[in-house]
Amino acid sequence: MKNSIALIGFMGTGKTVVGKLLAEKFGKGFIELDMEIEKTAGKSIPDIFRDDGEIHFRDLEIEAVKQIAGKKNVVIACGGGIVLNMVNIFRLKQECVIVCLTAAPEVILQRVSGDKDNRPLLASADRKNKIKELLEFRLPFYDRAADITIDTSGNDAPGVVQKIINALSEYESHD
Ligand code: S3P
Repeated sequence: MKNSIALIGFMGTGKTVVGKLLAEKFGKGFIELDMEIEKTAGKSIPDIFRDDGEIHFRDLEIEAVKQIAGKKNVVIACGGGIVLNMVNIFRLKQECVIVCLTAAPEVILQRVSGDKDNRPLLASADRKNKIKELLEFRLPFYDRAADITIDTSGNDAPGVVQKIINALSEYESHD
């Protein structure tokens, strides 16, 4: 049985906070993919986007997944665009159950409002529209990739973790 979990989903759906808690609860290691990319590149995600562009960032993301996807007994919090390259999902699925976190656009807007500089793709005068546009485009990618989908809109992190635990036991009973 797969004993690693990959958290996917749009920016602001809580992958990092929930991932840390989930890892703690299950006694698993925690890996944040964006941090691995930053370590390799020697600079922050916004700097990678600014200096090298999104395509280069996606290449680094593919490489990071390649290095990490085979790990057992870990929770991996992925960046929101991980689904854009199917090879990432293919690699993650070897050892991970893929859990997709979702939230309503208004909730996402509120959650990302505190960190304007950290998400280059949301650097827009009309962030709400940008979120809606990206969400709409990506929805089929998230749906296709996910083994389990969890709506986080009305929940705090411990609430989301509980939902994931329930969904995982249901999922495993049918596996
Ligand atoms: C991105 C999401 C970010 C980060 C990068 C691109 C995306 O991660 O990987 O800015 O394409 O959705 P978070 O989802 O952790 O914010």
